[in-house]
Amino acid sequence: MPLPQSISSNARVLWHLAINRVTGSTHEERLKSFYKGQAGDYDSFRKKLLHGREEMLTSLEFPEQGIWVDLGAGTGSNAEYVADKVPSLQKVYQVDLCDPLLDVARERAAERGWSNVVPTHADATTFTPEEGSADVVTFSYSLTMIPDWFAAIDNACRILKPGGIIGVVDFFVSRKYPADGMVKHPWSTRTFWTTWFANDNVFLNGDHLPYLHKYFTPVTLEQRRGKVPFLPFVRAPHYIFLGAKKAE
Ligand SMILES: C[S@@+](CC[C@H](N)C(=O)[O-])C[C@H]1O[C@@H](n2cnc3c(N)ncnc32)[C@H](O)[C@@H]1O
Repeated sequence: MPLPQSISSNARVLWHLAINRVTGSTHEERLKSFYKGQAGDYDSFRKKLLHGREEMLTSLEFPEQGIWVDLGAGTGSNAEYVADKVPSLQKVYQVDLCDPLLDVARERAAERGWSNVVPTHADATTFTPEEGSADVVTFSYSLTMIPDWFAAIDNACRILKPGGIIGVVDFFVSRKYPADGMVKHPWSTRTFWTTWFANDNVFLNGDHLPYLHKYFTPVTLEQRRGKVPFLPFVRAPHYIFLGAKKAE
């Protein structure tokens, strides 16, 4: 059901989250069905929900003329956080399977005059840059939406140059018995947030961080909580992980 333009951007996103039933027989079709009504309002609403993106992006070192692959890039808004560095990069691939979001990324790159930014329709689990490898690979709140998230991490590791850097920020819940040094969430946290996000096909997982540790030497690890719009009394857990690809 179409909504009048006069309704606020947040209300439109909430309307789509509440009313829109996700349909489709493939992952790509389901992503399109989920996002198509909210692509134009995506950035303003997600800014209040997806914490730590700016911190993750601004902590990364981008080499001059480097290749940056942003996997599950959505509207390509991550480039805004490092807009001063984008022109000095050889190529920025913004990889996503959802065309309505990629259209926003294409408009942004054109408006900014970023001819080296290439919004690309591809699967994060298999994408390879034309140049064959990348200096930096990022995932911001995309691993939890990629069913084969382990294949996406494997692919990031495969395309990263030796010593290349991965940056990840995402929601998570801890394992019931996490390793030393990892945050331990109580049953209520693990159950509530897993159930809450699964409604939108966002799958929180206690295995992302252990899997990232297997292939990447941690440079930064933050495990925190952040506010959720319209839920004043709770905070959703997220992590920021920066790591260097281990020698094979
Ligand atoms: C919550 S959004 C995050 C978008 C963006 N990184 C941000 O921080 O705003 C998750 C994104 O992952 C994308 N995605 C999910 N599965 C994917 C896959 N297999 N390959 C590429 N992108 C995928 C979705 O289409 C969506 O744009």
